[in-house]
Amino acid sequence: MNQIDSDNLPRHIAIIMDGNGRWAKKHMVGRIRGHKKGAQAVRATVRACRKLGIEYLTLFAFSVENWNRPEQEVKALMSLLDQYLTDQTKELKKQGIKLKTIGELKLLNSSIREKIRKAKEATKNNNKMIVNMALSYGGRDEIVHAVKKIAQKVKNNEIDSRQIDKEMLSMHLYTAGMPEPDLLIRTSGEYRLSNFLLWQLAYTELYFTNTLWPDFTKEDLLKAIASYQKRERRYGLTSEQITK
Ligand code: FPP
Repeated sequence: MNQIDSDNLPRHIAIIMDGNGRWAKKHMVGRIRGHKKGAQAVRATVRACRKLGIEYLTLFAFSVENWNRPEQEVKALMSLLDQYLTDQTKELKKQGIKLKTIGELKLLNSSIREKIRKAKEATKNNNKMIVNMALSYGGRDEIVHAVKKIAQKVKNNEIDSRQIDKEMLSMHLYTAGMPEPDLLIRTSGEYRLSNFLLWQLAYTELYFTNTLWPDFTKEDLLKAIASYQKRERRYGLTSEQITK
């Protein structure tokens, strides 16, 4: 903790929570047990980020590709999400955390959608931190979705195509209004983006750890932040330009 500079915290942390299945294999239990342990790590990480003063935490909880997993596993992941919403809404409220989501929610079943709606409603006035759950999320789908919305506006003569620029595209993404992630963490020793926040990660610092997601603790989080704080973010400029 004393290695962390509280004046240079990432405003927005995004996490690809990977390795639940391998954790289960390592402990010779079923994959679902790995996801259960992963859900506990979600709770602990949200708490740790809130305590540290992180403003935005985006968690890759379920990708569009995850729909193709075995039916039993998809069911179990949905049930864990359902459970999370049921038992954490009060907790989020108490901690001053606002819940948001990104992704194609209409693919989720109506009872979970209703729980998400209620959790968002219950936490909408909170302003200490935003927990942004990526659910049924795919980065390419998100960009296509934004392009379609813009095209429709051009067609309706609401905007002129010459007005289309990077800001406009950003404002039509699911993450509209949120700052881009400063730090992306991926657990379990995989070095991929897996279709996560493709547009938003353009200048994000990437951090990979071999820790499997169910084993991820506050110490791992602090290590990732300490690594982030040692980096120089240049956004395409030279080091001299940055330090001037
Ligand atoms: C990757 O593990 C993890 C996921 C598929 C999504 C993350 C899900 C959770 C953390 C559990 C529930 C979440 C909430 C919000 C309650 P994997 O199965 O891909 O692991 P593997 O690559 O080792 O097989």
